[in-house]
Amino acid sequence: MENKNIIRYIDLFCGIGGFRYAVSNALNKLGLEGDCVFSSDIDKYAQDSYEANFGERPRGDITQIAASDIPGFNLLLGGFPCQTFSICGLQKGFEDTTKGTLFFDIARILKEKQPDAFVLENVKNLVGHNNGSTFSVILKTLRDELGYVVDYKVLNALDFGLPQKRERIVIVGAKKPFKMSWKFDIQEKKTLKDILETDVDKKHYASPEIVEKRRLKHTSPYNPGIWHENKSGNISSYPYSCALRAGASYNYLLVNGERRLTPREMLRLQGFPEDFKIVVSDAQTRKQAGNALPVTMLAAVIEQFLSEIL
Ligand SMILES: C[S@@+](CC[C@H](N)C(=O)[O-])C[C@H]1O[C@@H](n2cnc3c(N)ncnc32)[C@H](O)[C@@H]1O
Repeated sequence: MENKNIIRYIDLFCGIGGFRYAVSNALNKLGLEGDCVFSSDIDKYAQDSYEANFGERPRGDITQIAASDIPGFNLLLGGFPCQTFSICGLQKGFEDTTKGTLFFDIARILKEKQPDAFVLENVKNLVGHNNGSTFSVILKTLRDELGYVVDYKVLNALDFGLPQKRERIVIVGAKKPFKMSWKFDIQEKKTLKDILETDVDKKHYASPEIVEKRRLKHTSPYNPGIWHENKSGNISSYPYSCALRAGASYNYLLVNGERRLTPREMLRLQGFPEDFKIVVSDAQTRKQAGNALPVTMLAAVIEQFLSEIL
């Protein structure tokens, strides 16, 4: 990178800033400074949260923003939504194969701005989506069309000191060769006890009928434990949370089978700091936390990646 001391980065699909915390933590550890020169998210409430916490309001719909409107930067960060790709064939260029998808917008910005590196994050299923052809197009675009050296790995937040089973693919790319070990030494490990609040408002409790129904179906060996209801109505419980989900049903996860997670607990499960300001409704925080990424996991990846390429 040109100026090794200040990393200029952009935060695409920024949500509530998971990537921004992750890169700041990584840069701190490396003794480097960061400068976020552009952020974008289409969702008004995510913009409200981001503005309250980072003092800048992200721009909106990325599909409507020309790359020439984005200042120069070294590092692109993006947890892009996974949409269905309509694939016309792997032989064509990314403009033909990915148009109409949000990955296309990442690719066009990389193509025009030519940053040194990028870090992308997505659901684990991206790898197998459409029998693997979606991911092939993504890799082919990044490598063959845009000229990046690319590596990727499916990682689980549980291995990064957070009590949440959240498996995500992280894709890293740079203009020059690098070698990721994907091995991490995580010092700080949090358990559910560290995450859960003790004095919880009544509004977070499920109705007695729901609690009773769950208890008839399941007895948990864990206390505290988080009870998880899957799509077919089966109940299981664990000494950690299953993945927070933006669009999950209201009682998808219940602490000890009796109450929902509070907004602060959800943010903690994603590794957000205690001083993160909550300025939107409980329902919006649930959506935002479900969309966000595990900060400690991405911080560890970015730290290793940057130390390889700088
Ligand atoms: C998976 S979430 C990423 C969340 C983020 N990594 C975080 O830590 O909060 C994807 C985000 O993309 C945003 N998004 C969807 N379509 C968009 C578009 N056309 N332009 C900009 N943002 C968009 C959504 O509002 C959502 O916040």
